[in-house]
Amino acid sequence: MVKKYVLGVETTAHTFGIGIVELSGVLNNSESSIIVNIKESFTTDSGGLIPIVVAKHHKAVSQKVYDNALNDAKISEGEIVAVAVSNAPGLSPCLLEGLRFSKSLANRLKIPLIPVNHCIAHLEIGRITGAKDPVLLYASGANTQVITYAGGKFRVFGETLDVGIGNFIDTFARYVGIGFPGGPVIDKLAQGVVEEDFVELPYSVKGMDMAFSGLLTNLKQKYDSKKFKLDNLAYSLQETAFAMLVEASERALAHTGKSELLLGGGVSCNKRLQEMCRKMCDDRGAKLFLLPNSLLVDNGGMIAFLGAIIYDSIINNKKKFLDIKNIDISPRERTDDVEVFWR
Ligand code: ATP
Ligand code: FE2
Repeated sequence: MVKKYVLGVETTAHTFGIGIVELSGVLNNSESSIIVNIKESFTTDSGGLIPIVVAKHHKAVSQKVYDNALNDAKISEGEIVAVAVSNAPGLSPCLLEGLRFSKSLANRLKIPLIPVNHCIAHLEIGRITGAKDPVLLYASGANTQVITYAGGKFRVFGETLDVGIGNFIDTFARYVGIGFPGGPVIDKLAQGVVEEDFVELPYSVKGMDMAFSGLLTNLKQKYDSKKFKLDNLAYSLQETAFAMLVEASERALAHTGKSELLLGGGVSCNKRLQEMCRKMCDDRGAKLFLLPNSLLVDNGGMIAFLGAIIYDSIINNKKKFLDIKNIDISPRERTDDVEVFWR
């Protein structure tokens, strides 16, 4: 049988990623269907993300990442049957750069372009873990949501009422002089700290929603007071903020009656968060599903993976692919706005 490949492009925020997946493997939920997943991420030594600067980064690295991806995949362009692009949600200049790149590729290869919602890609890639009907704790920079599939849509059961957990951690990190991304550094600082050094911090969960800005203000004040060691604050930040994520996830499991929790998003790389989720799942007889870090952070592999599922559904249902010139970015698209026709 001739193998078919779908190429995915991710540019919603700091990462320019290209993934290539093999279609029949995707339909079997196999991890080995992801034959290439490479990226170049924008980072800084100090200071945060400026969208236009990040978009320039994406433009500058795009051709090189694409060439490397094709090389590593050992396939020819002729074997690619569709291009998938995350056109929503995200930072407009970054999304536009990804769309420009993907449109020109799809037009040149004369193949369909499939727009993919980034948040849903984080959930659907969970299929390779064996999870059948999970609640997703999606903890990334810009997003913090508890999502699951119910009644024909992906529904957001709980979410941050202000900033994403990753942005919150990165902002505190920047405040204390750590560059972007700050999450991994805060994680390291926290690792040597013992329970006795926990510092009480404000905790804010309302139903299944969370808020982090009060916690951020409080942490800044504590840091400025010079009464606390930074590593103790880093530890307490994690213990407090992650407990909020775990509580919201547990409520969503209880509310939906589901018994699978999947983690997604860059903050889910955090081993302490994983451990806290595992304990909660064990306590209530639920199962925790973890992805490799390369599929937790923003990546083109998950975009290609969902793109391949959608490609197959369109072909099988004899539907039409979208006209490339009508495809646009949708920076504020909400998870529950997406029409889910592939399930
Ligand atoms: P999205 O567009 O889905 O919101 P994103 O652009 O924020 O995603 P991701 O790659 O999913 O991108 O997540 C990046 C975030 O993950 C950053 O805020 C970073 O600090 C955080 N992060 C990465 N590793 C860790 C870690 N070990 N502990 C805590 N946070 C981490
Ligand atoms: Fe993401």
